[in-house]
Amino acid sequence: MSAYGNAFYFNMNENSPIGVFDSGIGGLTVLRELLAELPDEDFIYFADSKNAPYGPRSVEEVTALSSRIVNFLVSKGCKIVVIACNTATAAAVYAMRKEFKVPIIGLEPAVKPACLKTRTRHVGVLATEGTFRGAHFKNTSDKYRKYVSLHLEIAKELVELAERGIFSGDEVDSIIEKYVAPLRQNNVDHIVLGCTHYPFFRPVIERVAGSGIKIIDSSEAIARRTKDILMTTNMMRTENPHRTVRLYSSDSPEKLSLIANAYLNEEVSIEGNVRL
Ligand code: DGL
Repeated sequence: MSAYGNAFYFNMNENSPIGVFDSGIGGLTVLRELLAELPDEDFIYFADSKNAPYGPRSVEEVTALSSRIVNFLVSKGCKIVVIACNTATAAAVYAMRKEFKVPIIGLEPAVKPACLKTRTRHVGVLATEGTFRGAHFKNTSDKYRKYVSLHLEIAKELVELAERGIFSGDEVDSIIEKYVAPLRQNNVDHIVLGCTHYPFFRPVIERVAGSGIKIIDSSEAIARRTKDILMTTNMMRTENPHRTVRLYSSDSPEKLSLIANAYLNEEVSIEGNVRL
């Protein structure tokens, strides 16, 4: 019987894997932090690259896609699911918690730490339209609105470039300049990367933003939160000399494998192309 007391999950215990998913490869930026924070855990990652980007999709569509993926991860025996996608969290985290018994961890842009640290009282946020539309973002930004001006940009081309494996070059420079220039003009001293695809471009964003602007994202915080939940529910694995990291994609697994091998400091296995 699992720690969560549901017969459906009777095969699940602390040795079960952690499920992670995103609309595509963006969640690998979260997976990297999870791998570092939880060295004895096995992982299963699902990249829904065939249906990316999620940003412009409706709440209903993203909820339906998320539900199929969580169902897949649970059917693989995952003991917990991390939604490594701000857009899917904004649309579907509450629905997923209702539908599934395993703990579901969501992700939201790191607006709070940026608002607490800013000196200029201007903070830039780069995210998708789905994330900006969601209740999480609205609630968090409403709390700080009196003291901090938030400047929002939807850097939509970056998701598509990342999915194509393009992380630098003239095209990337000019797209980032287009979104970062107005933030610089508004005197921001922090830029929040509110989409998990964006940290792939961090070196370019840092260069374009200049040394006075700090770039932050939520990946470390979500890795610590995942660890905390596993520890407090007695579900953390503490010994695993040969952990496994299995990656699935709804699109080309080769592309995923190329990017994962370059970005993660760990060997991964590609389990193939999945149609949900
Ligand atoms: N990586 C995603 C996020 O964090 C979604 C990007 C997209 O598919 O539009 O929001």
